[in-house]
Amino acid sequence: MSTLRPLRSEDVDRVLELEAVLFGLGAWTRGIYEEELRAPGRAYVAIEESGRLVGYAGASLAEESHVMTIGVAPEARRRGHASRMLAELMAQARSHGATSMLLEVRADDDGAQALYRRFGFEQIGLRPGYYQLEGVDGVVMRAELSPASATRLS
Ligand SMILES: CC(C)(COP(=O)(O)OP(=O)(O)OC[C@H]1O[C@@H](n2cnc3c(N)ncnc32)[C@H](O)[C@@H]1OP(=O)(O)O)[C@@H](O)C(=O)NCCC(=O)NCCS
Repeated sequence: MSTLRPLRSEDVDRVLELEAVLFGLGAWTRGIYEEELRAPGRAYVAIEESGRLVGYAGASLAEESHVMTIGVAPEARRRGHASRMLAELMAQARSHGATSMLLEVRADDDGAQALYRRFGFEQIGLRPGYYQLEGVDGVVMRAELSPASATRLS
């Protein structure tokens, strides 16, 4: 049984534990999370399994919204958690008037790219060395947020 809910400042300790596992050298710091959770025009969500946070995701909300981050604990993957969070962020972006959504994903992360393609994201560019600390290219993907494709999972 899992629950989708807003990400809160009390979650940051657990998020930082997961950041290190999920993003290694690219992990965000406490300061970044505190700033993101205070910033206007953001949507951050979390997934809990039996009361334990196992995933989180966030987006900026603007006409062209941006997926800031998305991650699921290794032991909780392939259960649809990232899909549920992404659908929620896309729905929130749409309800804020967004017409498109952008994201960057590691060029070597086939799994994440497959997830995004399922939600209508297509590659629109490549940023060589975007993930500087690891020397990995970034693939830029974009999805149109037409009202007709709106689906809100909860
Ligand atoms: C990418 C990530 C968020 C996916 O989370 P998840 O909860 O396992 O994703 P879902 O269960 O919603 O997957 C939905 C679909 O996406 C695709 N997918 C997801 N992970 C995949 C993988 N490792 N390999 C191939 N396809 C994958 C599949 O089509 C999957 O559907 P299926 O399980 O029915 O085959 C997770 O693997 C993760 O946190 N990775 C490390 C951090 C990261 O790379 N974040 C993205 C940075 S941009």
